[in-house]
Amino acid sequence: MEQNDLEIFLVATPGLEAPLAQEAAALGWTPEQQPGGVTIRGGWPDAWRANLWLRGATRVLVRIGGFRAMHLAQLDKRARKFPWADILPRDLPIKVETVCRASKIYHAGAATQRIERAISETMNMPVGGEGAIVVKARIEDDLVTFSIDSTGESLHKRGHKEAVAKAPMRETMAAMFLSQMGFDGSQPVLDPMCGSGTFVIEAAEIASRLAPGRSRGFAFQRLANFDADAWAAMAPPEALKAPQQFFGSDRDAGAICMSQANAERAGVAGTARFRSCSIADLQRPDCAPGIVIVNPPYGARIGNKGPLFGLHAAMGEVFRERLQGWRIGIVTSEGGLAKATGLPFQPPGPIVAHGGLKIRLWQTGPI
Ligand SMILES: C[S@@+](CC[C@H](N)C(=O)[O-])C[C@H]1O[C@@H](n2cnc3c(N)ncnc32)[C@H](O)[C@@H]1O
Repeated sequence: MEQNDLEIFLVATPGLEAPLAQEAAALGWTPEQQPGGVTIRGGWPDAWRANLWLRGATRVLVRIGGFRAMHLAQLDKRARKFPWADILPRDLPIKVETVCRASKIYHAGAATQRIERAISETMNMPVGGEGAIVVKARIEDDLVTFSIDSTGESLHKRGHKEAVAKAPMRETMAAMFLSQMGFDGSQPVLDPMCGSGTFVIEAAEIASRLAPGRSRGFAFQRLANFDADAWAAMAPPEALKAPQQFFGSDRDAGAICMSQANAERAGVAGTARFRSCSIADLQRPDCAPGIVIVNPPYGARIGNKGPLFGLHAAMGEVFRERLQGWRIGIVTSEGGLAKATGLPFQPPGPIVAHGGLKIRLWQTGPI
């Protein structure tokens, strides 16, 4: 396989493939959207850049090759001849994850065991354990293809959020919901139930042109083909100075302290402002109308559903009274709760899987 024409699969949160494809296109790739993710093509530096800059991908898988195998003995033999040493380090454990589809080899567990043993014996690497490099094997129509997980810990872990309130939104999802609302970094953003501040901090980072992966490490840095100098040359530029127009509030004072601490760690404390207040006391920010994005309690995860109808109706009232001209986005698992706000929603966005729930974005035009 040409080293500059590798297939790179960007794993998306199911339901958020479209905004991820848009993001990849904006970064200069030619994305192909598929269920579960987006394929781009390029060399290893493209995979590094994808890890560093994409806000919507949960991980980046790089296809490294494959072969045909009709039975386990053939898989074993061919896996031993595969050029693992070009890519895998000798000093780290390895973990193989296999899926089988429409193939004579149908037992994923047995296939995993053969591949792990082949790698471990030819490379003298241990199998499994903490910090293992993950090789994904896909056996489809008797064709075995291998991909390396270049990411490691999921990309929603930006490396700034130590403090987490109840039912936090993943950063990758928050960024994609902001994108679905047309946020491009220039508009003010307000989250009046901000919890640990995820939407507000993501928005402030985007406005500051900060790379989401700037503070963390990646699995690719431990691979045999990693070029530390080329990676250092990709270091993101200094942050832009964004206006102070990112606002979070929550009735839980503890959540506000967490938001503040998370914003400081992320380097956006100068642009994101947090205040402890209930939605009933929400004040109109002193700036041009922008985007409200809120992820209220759903009931299934925190609290009970009954009183939530009243809370949503009151929230709708507050928005109509105090936020004329703003656009409103509500991320919820309960369409009925969104409707209880009485706000003029457009048809809801696609269903997105979130911690066992199905959530979607309900958004309005300027109210
Ligand atoms: C699902 S959590 C939001 C999580 C947040 N998006 C994050 O990423 O951490 C809902 C938040 O709504 C807050 N909340 C509930 N009722 C409220 C009210 N009446 N006024 C303000 N905040 C409220 C809760 O304290 C909680 O932090």
